[in-house]
Amino acid sequence: DWTPDSFVESTVTELKAKIGDDKVILGLSGGVDSTVAAMLLHKAIGENLYCIFVDNGLLRKNEFYNVLKKYEVLGLNVIGVDAGERFLKKLAGVSDPETKRKIIGNTFVDVFDEESHKIEDAKWLGQGTIYPDVIESLSVNGPSQTIKSHHNVGGLPDYMKLKVVEPLRLLFKDEVRRVGKSMGLEDKFIQRHPFPGPGLAIRILGDITPEKVQILQEVDDIYISGLKSDGLYHEVWQAGAILLPIQSVGVMGDERTYERVVALRAVGSTDGMTADWSHLPYEFLAKISNQIINNVKGVNRVVYDISSKPPATIEWE
Ligand code: XMP
Repeated sequence: DWTPDSFVESTVTELKAKIGDDKVILGLSGGVDSTVAAMLLHKAIGENLYCIFVDNGLLRKNEFYNVLKKYEVLGLNVIGVDAGERFLKKLAGVSDPETKRKIIGNTFVDVFDEESHKIEDAKWLGQGTIYPDVIESLSVNGPSQTIKSHHNVGGLPDYMKLKVVEPLRLLFKDEVRRVGKSMGLEDKFIQRHPFPGPGLAIRILGDITPEKVQILQEVDDIYISGLKSDGLYHEVWQAGAILLPIQSVGVMGDERTYERVVALRAVGSTDGMTADWSHLPYEFLAKISNQIINNVKGVNRVVYDISSKPPATIEWE
């Protein structure tokens, strides 16, 4: 019978046998999968696991600091790389969504490669791949591809030449959560909303500036904190704020203002493939709208997204 405890026990035994005294490098994202994979590897090989967590400058407010703290409590050996400025410089002036994604992906690879070179004699790359990811990459690339869409191994970053170890590759998401729970990962961490890899970059429509990131971090923080304190956070599958590339007219005293507009989005879903907009209480929306407009300089209008997927996607770009 499959139980989280028996899975942990047998996996740790297998990992020990497979890896021995080798060093493993693993990229942490702050998400459940990479965290649980790291915990299993840590249990198996201890100090020989080196985790890398990159701040791309597009995380939620205080997220880098908060997540690093959590990892410390879990006893993981984490190298936090503050690369925000580097990402934002590369993104300056770029408005096209897919180009943004590509720049962020490539910059991550560069940063990760540089960091992994600092760890001498690493033999393995640990990954939080889960079963649905395995299926997806099989259907895209055929069974022989381990790393998506890379055919020329010679041209790969050095860390990708490492042998790959994926302790979660036979698990579904709910099983990963149960394993995490049985290893002492707190519920708050396990039940977090999904957050896209490119982060706030795809919630800032148009080009990205440090000022826009900061505005959106403040708005998002008010919204998400409000959902939590009003007991609504776990009622929705995912929520976030979007900074629109337009300005709207407002009034302050006798003056007309011309400032930014933000959209709030919250959806119910089971897998992200389809989603319904969440009917958040009007009182809650009214309160959050006031808090945002009163506290975030440069924003004078808040709208709520009432579109479902399909045809609207969850993200706006
Ligand atoms: P959409 O917008 O396609 O989003 O309805 C479905 C889910 O996927 C997330 N998403 C991404 N995650 N990189 C990611 O890691 C991306 O480029 C990306 N785009 C969308 C989105 O947040 C939602 O959970």
